[in-house]
Amino acid sequence: MSTPATDQYFPGLEGVIACETSICSLEGRGEGGLAFRGYSIEDLAESVSYMEAAYLLLHGELPNSGQLISFESRIKSARPVPEALIQLLHAIPPSVHPMDVLRTSVSVLAHYDPDNGAVSTDHAANVRKAERLIAQMATAVAYRERIERNQPLVPPRDDLDHAANFLNMINGGEPSETKRSAFDKSLVLYAEHELNASTFSGRVTVSTLSDIYSGIVSAVGTLKGPLHGGANEEAWKVLEQVGAPEHAEEWIASALARKERIMGFGHRVYKHGDPRARILKRYCTKIAAEIGDDRWERIAEPIEREVTQQKQLPPNVDWPSARLYHYLGLDIRLYTPIFAMARVAGWASHIIEQLDHNRLMRPRGQYIGAPPREIVPLAKRV
Ligand code: ACO
Repeated sequence: MSTPATDQYFPGLEGVIACETSICSLEGRGEGGLAFRGYSIEDLAESVSYMEAAYLLLHGELPNSGQLISFESRIKSARPVPEALIQLLHAIPPSVHPMDVLRTSVSVLAHYDPDNGAVSTDHAANVRKAERLIAQMATAVAYRERIERNQPLVPPRDDLDHAANFLNMINGGEPSETKRSAFDKSLVLYAEHELNASTFSGRVTVSTLSDIYSGIVSAVGTLKGPLHGGANEEAWKVLEQVGAPEHAEEWIASALARKERIMGFGHRVYKHGDPRARILKRYCTKIAAEIGDDRWERIAEPIEREVTQQKQLPPNVDWPSARLYHYLGLDIRLYTPIFAMARVAGWASHIIEQLDHNRLMRPRGQYIGAPPREIVPLAKRV
């Protein structure tokens, strides 16, 4: 048995390379270097829809128009969820957080997947399962939200794209083109991000040759935490608590003095700024102008300035996404589930890549506990 060397211990696995991947790089060209399969995030956000990005992640190349039409048509026909899940969405108590409901929903969907019996390494079956998950996680999130609001369910519509269909299922009305496009871009920006905690947990799960649904359940549970995807909900609370631009300086100074973390700021990899945050901020400005209310932009600005000045921490993607989802009329409890329903494309791509080239993920721990010792018989223990 080999013993891990102390100098190879990296708390939080910071900087550790855990696998090879062809899906996403943080060292590409452009600001911040984020690229999906070689395409910079700036170019993707400018030019492709979430459906094209999801296809790129899962299938390795951007689709041509015929491939996109058939991909979208498969996603659209997979949107309805089993009746058993709808009943369960009604039965789960109202106070349960939507991320917990989503975790349960993914687990339930596994039982009804037509490829349920396929072996975990069946690449083609895994791609089909991934496409169903992209479609059905969005439906589950929207249905549960309508149930929470005691409103009738709005069924999915085949004439709407992924972004417009989701917003229509939530709000019972089609979004404006500016809102649809901004929401779609947020899904592109959230779709994938290399070996973040949730993707890593999904890869670890399937590295035991467990199935893709189990991997996505692990990933949803991991995303929920406030240091990861849960930060977009917490970022909104920061904006609300600050409440006015003139309160930002004092609010941030006292939060930092209490050693609190300012949610939506800082990143394990991006120490000089998250390119996704810069892109999404532009959409926030655009939508705030369209709705004629820039209050939250005016509050966000001095908060960004103060956190940067006082702690040298730039905003991450969750900072502008909280404002964007507020402008779209989405309840705060939906922010992290939306992140999940976008990220599922990246999770599934990584899980499939892991299963295609699997090696069991099994790191070591640096033992710092009691030295070797004898067991004292129960009667003699003090
Ligand atoms: N607010 C205040 N201080 C912070 C923050 C923050 N948001 N982030 C880091 N710091 C401080 C730490 O307290 C620490 O300070 P110290 O050296 O004085 O003790 C220093 O910066 C380094 O922090 P670490 O925790 O070592 O940095 P790490 O790389 O582990 O942190 C993380 C990354 C977890 C994202 C962190 O920045 C954080 O907690 N941010 C807030 C939560 C958040 O927004 N998460 C979303 C990340 S993006 C995503 O998941 C999509």
